Amino acid sequence: MKEMKVISKRFDKVNPLSIQDYINTNGYTFLKKAIKMERISIIEEVEASYLRGRGGAGFPTHIKMMGLAKETSMPKYIICNADEGEPGNFKDRAILEKDPYAVIEGMTIVAYATGATKGYVYIRGEYLEALKIMKHCIQEATENNLLGNNILGEKFNFTLEVRSGAGSYVCGEEFALIESIEGKPGRTRIKPPFPTQKGVFNQPTMISNVETFANIPFIIEIGGKEYHKIGTPSSTGTKLLSLSGNIKNPGVYEVPFGVTIRAVIEELGGGTLNNRKIKMIQLGGSCGPIIPEYMLDMIIDYERFEEFESKTGSGAIIVMDDRSDIFDILMNTVLFFEHESCGKCVPCREGHVQLLKIIDKFVKRTASSKDLDSLESLARVMHQTSLCGLGQSSPTSIISTIRFFRDEYLDRIDHPASN
Ligand SMILES: Cc1cc2nc3c(=O)[nH]c(=O)nc-3n(C[C@H](O)[C@H](O)[C@H](O)COP(=O)(O)O)c2cc1C
Ligand code: SF4
Repeated sequence: MKEMKVISKRFDKVNPLSIQDYINTNGYTFLKKAIKMERISIIEEVEASYLRGRGGAGFPTHIKMMGLAKETSMPKYIICNADEGEPGNFKDRAILEKDPYAVIEGMTIVAYATGATKGYVYIRGEYLEALKIMKHCIQEATENNLLGNNILGEKFNFTLEVRSGAGSYVCGEEFALIESIEGKPGRTRIKPPFPTQKGVFNQPTMISNVETFANIPFIIEIGGKEYHKIGTPSSTGTKLLSLSGNIKNPGVYEVPFGVTIRAVIEELGGGTLNNRKIKMIQLGGSCGPIIPEYMLDMIIDYERFEEFESKTGSGAIIVMDDRSDIFDILMNTVLFFEHESCGKCVPCREGHVQLLKIIDKFVKRTASSKDLDSLESLARVMHQTSLCGLGQSSPTSIISTIRFFRDEYLDRIDHPASN
């Protein structure tokens, strides 16, 4: 299997800082095309493409665009979510560092289509290089009349600024991110109203992922219908994957939706180091499901994630070999989420503390079958009742391992290690 390089076509081929390199490789051709189109036609092209958000939840992008376009309260905002704080994910960093102008062009097209006049790129605090690159590119685009007032001589104003995260994972959640831009602690808000109704500074706001915006120029280039032919009927286009763990060739790969996980691991990743047997993989990052090796022939698309009650389709694949211990992994994962919980709601704030206590019993082989029942029901309660996606999705690794590796749990109950 070969990669299908659509979003990554310029990676390592152009100087990412050079607007001229970008223009020489068809860059800004599609903003020029879009700006001559009816605004609604742009949204219709995105609808025909059935682009779904690449930040995790897979929400159709045209619905957000339409939602923002309909709002009349000005100013309207566009935010690019480049927080990428979840362990195992690094594909947005690759886009920001290797093809930043594609994100800016995508955001500018969306701004034109929806009537937004101001935008932010919210970049993870640790991504210092990406931050520097994006600031430079925004300045260059502004100097070239591709951002700012009367863009390309049309009655269209759109300015862009960079904001830096400060190391909090929950600030990737849309409302926590919005609060952070407003200068407040990053905590979610109760929905509705949704961001397109009342977002940053209580104004209509569309917030989308880096990869989502990078897809927009390509959709305008080939048209929504052609785009829809790539991938599967309900998961269209390509996906950037962050491949890590025990793998010969870790890195970012771009494939059409619908390829199998096995093909990605074996043909692109080269299999495991030292050819160790794969025991399991985690999909989507730390808040995604852990599935056994025999499921590697599963295809990559949004529907598969929904089967796991998981909303994480951000594209991480973490490979773990036969030496990996499930309870070590769960302990690390839950510790991460306990640390990152903002504390606003009880199921997440208290739930992680209790999860850690029970997992510790499995680590020490002192758990009873009642502990297994408590672990499962607590994980489900958190999934169903937490206020934001952090607490809703953090128990996914527990729910999935109880489903696929139940024997390992039972083994710790029935056969405590002798000291
Ligand atoms: C705890 C948490 C962290 C998140 N982190 C990110 C992130 O780093 N990048 C991202 O695009 N979306 C992240 N999301 C999802 C966003 O809330 C939002 O759904 C997304 O930015 C929408 O973009 P999309 O429609 O293009 O997918 C996170 C959600 C949660 C609950
Ligand atoms: S789920 Fe966790 S991170 Fe989200 S609001 Fe509740 S306490 Fe905060």
